[in-house]
Amino acid sequence: MQLAHAGRKASTRRPWETSGTVPETEGGWKKVVAPSALRFADNYPMPQALTRDGIQEVVSAFAAAARRACQAGFRVVEIHAAHGYLIHEFLSPLSNKREDHYGGSFENRTRLCREIVGAVRSSWPNELPLFVRISATDWIDGGWDIEQSVELARELKRLGVDLIDCSSGGNVPHAKIPVGPGYQTAFAQKIRHEAEVMTGAVGMITSPVQAEHIIRTGQADAVIIAREFLRDPYWPLRAARELDQPIAWPVQYLRAAPKGAQPRVAVDLKSFESCFEEQHGVPERRGPRRIEAGK
Ligand SMILES: Cc1cc2nc3c(=O)[nH]c(=O)nc-3n(C[C@H](O)[C@H](O)[C@H](O)COP(=O)(O)O)c2cc1C
Repeated sequence: MQLAHAGRKASTRRPWETSGTVPETEGGWKKVVAPSALRFADNYPMPQALTRDGIQEVVSAFAAAARRACQAGFRVVEIHAAHGYLIHEFLSPLSNKREDHYGGSFENRTRLCREIVGAVRSSWPNELPLFVRISATDWIDGGWDIEQSVELARELKRLGVDLIDCSSGGNVPHAKIPVGPGYQTAFAQKIRHEAEVMTGAVGMITSPVQAEHIIRTGQADAVIIAREFLRDPYWPLRAARELDQPIAWPVQYLRAAPKGAQPRVAVDLKSFESCFEEQHGVPERRGPRRIEAGK
């Protein structure tokens, strides 16, 4: 479950409609907030700078959301600190022009992120993983960059974050992003090695061999895939077949599965804790795959 606050990108239209603000007359928000009163773009809402009380409300709301996610049965929480949403807006000097404890220096710009992570970590069970998605760079001189991301990752690890999910961009509309296969993977690799924390690589990772290569060569501990799953929702089954790995198949699909495939049966939420591993794990040939971060 990803927890997010949209900051100055809130109250905008669905991405597949025309872009821009939803006015109050059409149900848009009265108050959009951000670190500073700076719009993302001309057709976006003009935000109000968050007050100190407003900041504390946001921190508490993230913690409450984590508690609800746990009660609802989610087993991984990711804090969204990327893509030009509220936390990223605080991190980046391009969107954060505050002159109080939440703006200016690296320590101040990262304060909201650290406070949210601290509050979520103490509201989320210790034994369950906490991820943070960051934009490793704004792709703009003078913006948030990979060096600051490495430093932030070190601090987030100290605060109990298990994995940094390394995306990029989204905080300014005019950034020139060299989009292409695996274009963000190098960020996951650098953060993994320099901050010695587990990372996730994301962005135009589409083939099983490409994903496997990233893991095997120690560039990241996990790959995160979005659009390829929309094109092919059965991607994990395809990847398992291509990489000759055993995977449990939905029991209803077993007749289409390779010979010897194990059934995956529906999860009984009442005994979720005990059955999770059993139902989703791979029952045989379960070799150690994890390469220690920083090695
Ligand atoms: C329809 C759609 C919805 C998305 N929603 C989110 C989201 O809620 N949170 C997020 O961090 N990224 C979101 N993303 C971005 C993806 O997680 C991912 O970072 C991006 O698409 C690049 O990965 P890909 O090349 O595998 O698609 C979304 C992407 C798509 C296509």
